[in-house]
Amino acid sequence: MFRNYGEKYIGQENAGQKHYRQKNKWQKNWGQKNVGGKIGWQEYLGRENRRGNMTSLFQIVIVVLAVAWWPLCAGSSDGRPTGILTALPEEMQVLSQHLKDKRMRTFLGVTFQTGKLEGRKVVLATSGIGKVNAAKTAALLLDRFHPGEVIFSGVAGGLNPDLAPGDIVIGTRTAQHDFGKLTERGFEPQTPTAETPLFIEAPGELLRAADRVAARVKLAPVLTTHGTRTPRVIRGVIITGDVFVASPTKVAELRETFKADAVEMEGAAVALVCWQQRVPCMVIRSISDKADVGAWEDFERFIKMAADNSARFTLELLRVLKEQPKVTP
Ligand code: ADE
Repeated sequence: MFRNYGEKYIGQENAGQKHYRQKNKWQKNWGQKNVGGKIGWQEYLGRENRRGNMTSLFQIVIVVLAVAWWPLCAGSSDGRPTGILTALPEEMQVLSQHLKDKRMRTFLGVTFQTGKLEGRKVVLATSGIGKVNAAKTAALLLDRFHPGEVIFSGVAGGLNPDLAPGDIVIGTRTAQHDFGKLTERGFEPQTPTAETPLFIEAPGELLRAADRVAARVKLAPVLTTHGTRTPRVIRGVIITGDVFVASPTKVAELRETFKADAVEMEGAAVALVCWQQRVPCMVIRSISDKADVGAWEDFERFIKMAADNSARFTLELLRVLKEQPKVTP
């Protein structure tokens, strides 16, 4: 996109130079004619005034274009907004509270909030739970708002035993854990195809931006039975399926098959839709539970804290992206 804008600009510059050359030629000819006394001073002044008017008009057009262009520069490098999706309203709360110049638009029952977060143009939407809702919302987001990149922010069940509530996983890759073949031998993950890889890799530029966030973000300390602890941030594999996992047997199976660190219900669906449309996408999740027998109680207890941590991380990510704006898929 950036290259296209560059080419367009160079094209306009060349056209301008050509026009400028023509004007000089005309001025030269006109000057000669005037020396020959072919036109009088009134006509001369009339032409000068018309030229003056044209110059002012040109200046006004430039100013109007610059004013119209300026707000677009607050988005990604080519003026497109950053799309931010969550599954649940709790996960959107902090982001929504920080949103400036808020406007709402609804398509197929999905409400999108547009505005500015940390000085950057954004579009926010809450998809609802599960892969179908997530894919539908992602498709609408891409089709209606053409974001430069998409971030999914929310909570997840921890599969990596080192993770505790509040910790953040930056998704290096995502996969659908419930998409595949079920035979007498058990479940086999989908065979990758050209349009649907098993794993969707997050773009390096977004991951590097997330690493910078990890080094400077301030996350709320988590109250545990052993006192308070500061949440950790790791890079890891995030897997997605249409089930809330609350089973140690399933945790062991998912860890074995996908080498995954966290499990949730939307990320890979959004990442796949974005990947198919060549839009950079990254999933950020904060741990709300350990997907074990106590998962549901932990989820209810930690959702607010984990959702806020993920949102805070995402806000800081927007600040970093503003400093380092260009993102390619
Ligand atoms: N989101 C948060 N916790 C989860 C879990 N245990 N399973 C699936 N999605 C989740």
